[in-house]
Order: sequence, then C-alpha cells, then structure tokens
Amino acid sequence: MEFSVKSGSPEKQRSACIVVGVFEPRRLSGTAEQLDEISEGYISNLLRKGDLEGKSGQMLLLHHVPNILSERVLLVGCGKERELDERQYRQIITKTINTLNETGSMEAVCFLSELHVKGRDIYWKVRQAVEAAQDGLYSFDSLKTRKAEPRRPLRKIIFNVPTRRELPIGERAVTHALAISEGITTCKNVANMPPNICNPAYLAEQAKILENDYDNVTTTIVNEKEMEELGMGSYLAVGRGSVNESLMSIIKYDGGADDAKPLVLVGKGLTFDSGGISLKPGAGMDEMKYDMGGAAGVLGAMHALAELQLPINVIGVLAGCENMPSSNAYRPGDILTTMSGQTVEVLNTDAEGRLVLCDALTYVERFNPDAVIDVATLTGACVVALGAHATGLLSSHNPLAHELLNASEQSGDRAWRLPLWDDYQDQLESPFADFTNLGGKEAGTITAACFLSKFTKKYNWAHLDIAGTAWRSGKNKGSTGRPVSMLTQFLLNRSGQEQGE
Ligand code: BES
Ligand code: MN
Ligand code: ZN
Repeated sequence: MEFSVKSGSPEKQRSACIVVGVFEPRRLSGTAEQLDEISEGYISNLLRKGDLEGKSGQMLLLHHVPNILSERVLLVGCGKERELDERQYRQIITKTINTLNETGSMEAVCFLSELHVKGRDIYWKVRQAVEAAQDGLYSFDSLKTRKAEPRRPLRKIIFNVPTRRELPIGERAVTHALAISEGITTCKNVANMPPNICNPAYLAEQAKILENDYDNVTTTIVNEKEMEELGMGSYLAVGRGSVNESLMSIIKYDGGADDAKPLVLVGKGLTFDSGGISLKPGAGMDEMKYDMGGAAGVLGAMHALAELQLPINVIGVLAGCENMPSSNAYRPGDILTTMSGQTVEVLNTDAEGRLVLCDALTYVERFNPDAVIDVATLTGACVVALGAHATGLLSSHNPLAHELLNASEQSGDRAWRLPLWDDYQDQLESPFADFTNLGGKEAGTITAACFLSKFTKKYNWAHLDIAGTAWRSGKNKGSTGRPVSMLTQFLLNRSGQEQGE
C-alpha cells in the first residue's frame, strides 16, 4: 500500500473515493459540510432520511454525488464528536481501510486525519492512521497452500492535512509509520512462524538478513561452544534438553558517533517453551511458540531503526533457545552457575526465561551500555495483572522508566509500571544456592524482574514483560507486533526526532 499526504479541499479531489466523517447524531464534520454545500444538500438530505446516524464505525458509500469530481464519497460514522479518542480513531481508520478494499476504489483521499482527537496533533493522527492501516492489512499465509486472495484493489491512500504548512510534518509521520510498520511486520512474521521452522537457528538467520540488508548493521552469532567458554551455565542448561542448538544473535547497528555508548535491547527468544521437565499442561501449549516474542520485538525494532537510519548506536540481542524435556534436560533441584558467577537453584524448569536472560544480561556488560532494556514473555502472572492491554514495565532506574512510559504513551503501545522494591527479593531465597529461580505464588511478575535485577547492577536497566501483549489468542490468534512501536518511539526520542521535525 502506498501512503502520502496532501493539503486540499474535498470538492476539488478527483480521486476514486473521498473519505469524510459524520458525527453522531447526524452531524457533518467540516469537510463533509463542504461537500454538502457543493452538492446542494445531497448529503444532509440523506442523513435526514435516516441513512446514517454517525455511530462509530458506521459506513455509507455514495456514488455520483452531484457536483463532486470524485466517483465515490465514503461517509464514516465517528461517534459523538466530543468522545472521539485515540482508540476510537484507530478503530475507525481500520474499519475504513477494510471498507475501501471492498469498494473497488484504487485510490482514496482520506479527510479523517483532520478530525479533532483530544491532545493529539497532525503528526500523531497521520502516523497512527498509517500504522493502523498496515496492521489491518497484515496476514500470515506463507504456509497455506491455498491463499485466500482477497480482492484488494486499493493501492494508495492520501491523508489530508489542514494546511500546506503541515505537509512536511505529515510526510515525516508517513515515513516514521512505514518504517515502524515494516518492523512490526518483521516481528509478526517471525513470531507467527511455527516452532518446527522457527528455532534458534532460524532466529539467527533473520538477524543475518538485517546485516545483509543494511550497510551499518553487523550480526554475530554466539553458539553453545562459545557460551561454554563464556561460562553461560544458566542459558546453556535451559537449552540442553533440545536437539536445536542454543544460539544468541548480536545485531549491531552503528548510526551514532564511534564513542557514543550504545543502547542495548535484549529479547527472550524461547522458540518453544514446553516447560521442560516441569512440563506445561497440554491446553494451548501451541501458543508457547510465541515465547520468542521478545526476540521478535527486538528484531522488529532493529529493522525499524535501520530503516529510519537514526543517528544512535544500538545493539539488539536475540537470546534464542528451546526448552524441552529429555533425559539430558536440566531438572528441578539442579544448581546452575551463571555467567556472573552467582549460583541458582532451579525449582521449576518452566521459569526458564529468566535463566536465559540473566546470562544474556551479563554478556552485554561488555558493550558498556548507556541503557539496557530486556523484552520478554516472562510471566503468566503479568497476563493476570494487566491482561492483554498493557505491557508490564519494571525498572530500577526512574528516568529510563519514564522515558519508556512516555514512548508508550506517544506510540499508543501501552505499558504500565509495576514496583521493583527490595521487599520482594526475599521470595527468591534458597537454602542451597545464592537464590532460586522461583518466587512463589505472589507477585510473579515482580519476583521474575527481581531475579533479573541481580544481573543488571552495572548499567541502567528496564524490563518489559510482554506475556499478555505479544500475541492474541482465540480465533484471531496471531502476533500483535508489540512492543516494536514503543521501542522504536523510544529510539526516535533518543535521536531527538520525536516530533514531526
Ligand atoms: N513463557 C512463560 C510465561 C508465559 C505463560 C507467557 C503464559 C505467556 C503466557 C514462562 O516461561 C513461564 O512458564 N513462566 C512461569 C513461571 C513460573 C513457573 C514461576 C509462569 O508464568 O507460570
Ligand atoms: Mn516457561
Ligand atoms: Zn517461557
């Protein structure tokens, strides 16, 4: 799909379709009003007859509206004007794109970007519209022998901005949105890939693709032999039950000054989490292919970053591994020596994510990072606490936490902070080792982060628990592409490009 912006009045458009909003009850938006005047009351007449109430998401397609140059006019219900919020705006855009795809128009000029959304500027509205459109057009059918060929005539959407002065801002919004959407698509594609194809080697291949596609990206792979030499006893233990070798991919993006400290993103890459010897129950176990969602998110953010060529240095780490039961698998009761030298008593082999991440987090000390953010489908407890709407954010560094919350607010990719007080650390005490990998029934998301915090003392660190947000279950099962948008926004902000400048 092609996207662009322009600034013009609706009656002058020669496009196949013009899209304008109608509020509830039967109230025309400014642009709809303009069309109504030119057409001598054609639209208001229809509304009076009861054809469109203006409820959010309602659609009415008109042909040959008198005195209008465009072939079609799509009236889009936007609900009550005062109630138009961010979520509704996104939903309206998604619905509009789906409807446009069914109309036969190849091109549309959309005036919905001019609607007033409380507290949001034109940059935000155009960017969200393009992201919502791309999100709605995604499907994962590369493994279906018969692809559902949706008739998709729509080729181009032009978003209108109120004045010419706003054109560069709108253009910037489109550029950002397209880069982020590319990253989101990469994230979704790798996350949706089944675990018999997407194993740690596959993750490494995806990391190598970024190296091939961008001059300032280099990817190196750390294999099990090298992990052995590095003393990554904890990471290795988790992967030992699997025939698929554990591989950690390091993606280096050089966009900043040589001496600028890098930001580091570390993604949990469990390409399948069976639970290991502490085997998970069978129901819904297929969804544990998404336990590499953190790595997919980091890969997606690195892709968006490379596409945007931001002037910063960033290192993305995909901690690839598979957690399987076998006679060679690690067991409850085992005591592992981590790369940091600290020892861990394994009480449950299903609390494996933290065991992989802790060694990856120690490994990245070598980069002298400005900040480290890990991203992981870490705890079922996070799904209980926040559901599918917000990513859990835990951090020992307040400024970094606020930066991430800001980025989440700007991008619409929600996150919510949970505490990381030392009070919770006691839950990890072990009689035999330095601590255990299990915090007990209470506050599972926090104790998991407490575990990680024991390995992140040398730098500023934040942890994102995406267990509830990385994928959707049920009939719309699939990767959401989160938190690529939040991470990329964070990187944009770090590059001083948060506004449409
Ligand atoms: N990958 C899971 C967490 C998970 C579960 C994410 C369900 C999304 C949905 C993680 O490895 C895990 O199994 N965590 C355990 C930890 C427990 C054993 C302390 C959990 O949450 O039950
Ligand atoms: Mn697990
Ligand atoms: Zn897991």
